[in-house]
Amino acid sequence: MPKILVLPGDGIGPEIVPEAVKVLEKVAPKYGLELEFQEGLIGGAAIDKVGKSLPEETLEASRASDAVLLGAVGGPKWDTLPASERPEVAALLPLRKGLGLYANIRPCLLYSALADSSTLKKEVVEGTDLVVIRELTGGLYFGKKSRETYTFSSGDKTESAERAIDTLVYTTPEIKRILALAFDLAKKRSGKVTSVDKANVLESSRLWRETADKMIEEYPEINLEHIYVDNCAMQLVRNPKQFDVIVTENTFGDILSDQASMLSGSIGMLPSASVGGEVALYEPSHGSAPDIAGKDLANPIATILSVAMMLEITFDLPDAAQSIRKAVGDVLEAGYRTGDIMSPGCRQVGTVEMGALIRERL
Ligand code: IPM
Ligand code: MG
Repeated sequence: MPKILVLPGDGIGPEIVPEAVKVLEKVAPKYGLELEFQEGLIGGAAIDKVGKSLPEETLEASRASDAVLLGAVGGPKWDTLPASERPEVAALLPLRKGLGLYANIRPCLLYSALADSSTLKKEVVEGTDLVVIRELTGGLYFGKKSRETYTFSSGDKTESAERAIDTLVYTTPEIKRILALAFDLAKKRSGKVTSVDKANVLESSRLWRETADKMIEEYPEINLEHIYVDNCAMQLVRNPKQFDVIVTENTFGDILSDQASMLSGSIGMLPSASVGGEVALYEPSHGSAPDIAGKDLANPIATILSVAMMLEITFDLPDAAQSIRKAVGDVLEAGYRTGDIMSPGCRQVGTVEMGALIRERL
């Protein structure tokens, strides 16, 4: 029986994850898939229980499972820890790296019922259907970091100050595999790929662009364009419909996917799948939202749409995934909203009720 490792984590994680698990429990059997669920510790919750944000057992259990479902990690309680012990750095990044998950797929689709929920004009966001493919195990996040004190002379005095260094490194194999994944995914969509870089300034971006230009010869069906990251940020809010598949390095992808999320109404709508390694990891693109945790306010849809991605990618059940997306659309059409996507004339519901409403329509 396929095993799912469930890692609720911190903040709203323990509220949104159960809603998505219940969706899986309802949908999977209808498609002949019997799943076994196992729960594990991660993040601040793991620090509090076992003193470590990524316990060895969690990494091992991830490797022994067929898919991992993660809520979110981090919160004010652990923000004062030394940087290297914070859950974001000490749990999430090593989990991604440890499992070899070099590609993060973040589809950004606007449900038509939410065209009024975005802070952007309806005419601009209507019809948005793009996917951000973010390189996930390289770049600034994983480059060498250091802090040092240095001295300099000012006038006739010698003063000291601090210097912090982050290193941005990419190799051609790392660039090739993420671009190949983007090109392959684009073949199933419109064939258009926008590669985002800062090649006018950064050496790593120049290597990225050269590599893409060489590879594209083997992908005659792909229409590749290059765009600078600053221009991409502007174009995303000016005319998002020009984009289909966006592929970019780790930090740019982190920023652009948050920005793109607003095209779907709220970051609470944006699912994600991290793939390319031993086992895929599914998690909402948003964080642990400590300000609304424990209040039944969080939007569970990003997590529910993440399990739809799980059914499609890990279990090759696109119809099962589609049935979840449709149920989400039906609930939104019926006028139910969590606070983050609330519009006048709609009915505001909590996390638990939103989950139940979606399951009713499955
Ligand atoms: C994300 C998050 C993480 C990231 C943080 C929590 C380290 O922002 O998944 O986008 O930057 O990757
Ligand atoms: Mg982010």
